[in-house]
Amino acid sequence: MAVSFSTAPFVWQHRQRRPVWRQQALIAARTHTDYQHEDHAESRDGRRSHSPPGHGRGFSYVVATGLSARPAPGSIETRLARAVRRWAVPRDVRDRTPPLPPSAEAIAEALDHFARYCATCHANDGSGEAPIGQALFPRAPDMRQAPTQDLTDGELFYIIEYGVRFTGMPAWGDGSPKGEELGWKLVHFIRHLPKLTPEELNRMESENPKPPQ
Ligand code: HEC
Repeated sequence: MAVSFSTAPFVWQHRQRRPVWRQQALIAARTHTDYQHEDHAESRDGRRSHSPPGHGRGFSYVVATGLSARPAPGSIETRLARAVRRWAVPRDVRDRTPPLPPSAEAIAEALDHFARYCATCHANDGSGEAPIGQALFPRAPDMRQAPTQDLTDGELFYIIEYGVRFTGMPAWGDGSPKGEELGWKLVHFIRHLPKLTPEELNRMESENPKPPQ
């Protein structure tokens, strides 16, 4: 097959970064009508991009926008990604409830864990205002706000345990009962984020990983 000028970047990106391509294709394929009405087919310098024949809008979207994580995701992209994610969480998991209460001990343990392992992306206060969290695509969200707080406990647990594919959010669970217990404690901590006290923030700072001297 002859590689034309307009398909060359796609072929290169396809070889290098297949998972990203698949994510964009999935999102675009599920929602092609939305993309049709948006300016996503327009390349940055205003030229119309030509999609490789027969490859659908997922490809033209990647060719038009590139794979850089630098631009802030648009509100449509964010909304669609969240909708796809919601659809991906099994219903029985979504309806699960924490097997342990939000005791002071549970929250304290999760607070330390969050400061050590999660704050690099999510920031101690859950705002996502951390250098790594702000450079990811999609960005680490402000977990104190409604879009996160309105998720069910089961959805939060599932995200922590399994991660979110194609995003920077890693899977933390190892399937063990101990790991699941910690996952539920972290769910309680995420509910607690909007009420963090200055003392708790101080304690988290002392737990944050230190850069090498
Ligand atoms: C390497 C960066 C990174 C680390 C470390 C990380 N996360 Fe995330 N997290 C993300 C990103 C990016 C998202 C947004 C994913 C999306 O948009 O679907 C996210 C999303 C989430 C969400 C869903 C919130 C929402 O509204 O979408 C929860 C809950 C969460 N993370 C909890 C945690 C916990 C708990 C830890 C530590 C055990 C952690 N994360 C560590 C990057 C990270």
